[in-house]
Amino acid sequence: MAPHAVLDLAPAAPLDAARIADYDVFGDRLFEEEGDLHLGLYRLGEEFGRGIFWTPHNGGHWLINDYELLFEAVRTPEIFSSNNRAAQNGAMVMIPPMEGGGEPRFAPQSLDPPEHGMYRMPLMKAFAPARILAMEAGIRALAVQLIDELKSRGRAEFLEAVAEPLPVTVFMNMMGMPLQRLAEFRSWMHNIASSDDAKRADAFLNIDRAMHELIVARQTRREDDLISHLLDSDIRGRQPDMIDMQSYCLLLFTAGLDTLVNTFTFGMYHLARHPQLQDRIRADRALIPEFIEEVLRRYGVAMPPRVVAQDAEFGGVRLTKGERVLLMLPAANLDEAAFPGALEFDVDRENKTHITFNSGPHRCVGSHLARLELRVFFEEWFERMPNVRHDPANPPTYRPGLNLTICKLPLIWDPA
Ligand code: HEM
Repeated sequence: MAPHAVLDLAPAAPLDAARIADYDVFGDRLFEEEGDLHLGLYRLGEEFGRGIFWTPHNGGHWLINDYELLFEAVRTPEIFSSNNRAAQNGAMVMIPPMEGGGEPRFAPQSLDPPEHGMYRMPLMKAFAPARILAMEAGIRALAVQLIDELKSRGRAEFLEAVAEPLPVTVFMNMMGMPLQRLAEFRSWMHNIASSDDAKRADAFLNIDRAMHELIVARQTRREDDLISHLLDSDIRGRQPDMIDMQSYCLLLFTAGLDTLVNTFTFGMYHLARHPQLQDRIRADRALIPEFIEEVLRRYGVAMPPRVVAQDAEFGGVRLTKGERVLLMLPAANLDEAAFPGALEFDVDRENKTHITFNSGPHRCVGSHLARLELRVFFEEWFERMPNVRHDPANPPTYRPGLNLTICKLPLIWDPA
């Protein structure tokens, strides 16, 4: 394994050497040693402890991997800001820091309270549990169709067959996008996650264009879809304008697709390695909600960045305005102090309070939709499919980063 360069980037305030962790979120050496993204995060805690640490990689930034400390950090937005305006030189709140921050584009995610709340309220209404539950029958029909198409095949690449088409189709239906554009949508979703800047910029441009078209159409004629609903919402006494609407659309696209695709995939990845768990759930479907919560805990997927908005003491270190912070939510879910035997996948676990959807003002707006899609899909999967296993000739492939990703998950099974 090639050694990673440790850059000479130190925090502004003096720091004890024990608080410096050799951790690269994009090429984690612990991940490379373990071949398992989450095990790598767990080993980081074993090697450096839990708390707040500095890493010199990727421009130098703080990382928090302690359960209690993370809950405190995400509920203190006056220090841990999501807003470009708090970053130095107007750069983006990103790791590594990126130019071109400017005005925040992903409202409400890119805003802090109290401004954040004004933009969040319309989304909260659109994603309220009762509205989401009304989508159950449509999601079930789609899940059944996708599963029935692959049942007799005996093998499938899970992302291609289910984990992408299901949430992307649900999302497009919800937005009011024509499904003929499904393939295009999926390619944009891939390119947004790409490390190639040109591909990423192109994907954002395409999404912006497609959404602009749709918003203009709905401005003229409302339908029963999310865009129409948001157009009639209220941001502190006024209707959202085109910039607000495009901001909502971009945010929903970036926050609501990859995360769910990855959670579907990690869930299936775990099942394929544990035939006894498949037998147990098939015999007792009432376990499915517990199974889903344990997938969400054991395989958290998102590590959002923040910027320090003001000099502050926090968790025993001195933070300086403008420094970046990585909120390691999936690592906090593997904190032994909160989840004894944290690496074990235990559907009977008592503590279900994971932080996969974050907590505090930015807690995920789409969690009800995510849970519904996961539950309905796994109910139909266990109803229709025999036990599946990994394809020994084609092992899964992974990608570390701010979103923990399985890129390919080839599965095999014995068709009935
Ligand atoms: C398992 C699937 C999902 C996971 C793990 C997840 C995770 C998260 C996390 C960690 C955040 C906080 C980001 C931050 O603090 O900066 C977040 C925010 C958000 N999520 Fe999700 N998400 C999922 C699915 C969805 C879906 C399906 C949607 C909608 C289609 C959605 C929409 C949002 C929005 C709009 C925000 C911003 C909330 C705010 O800043 O106030 N998410 N999500």
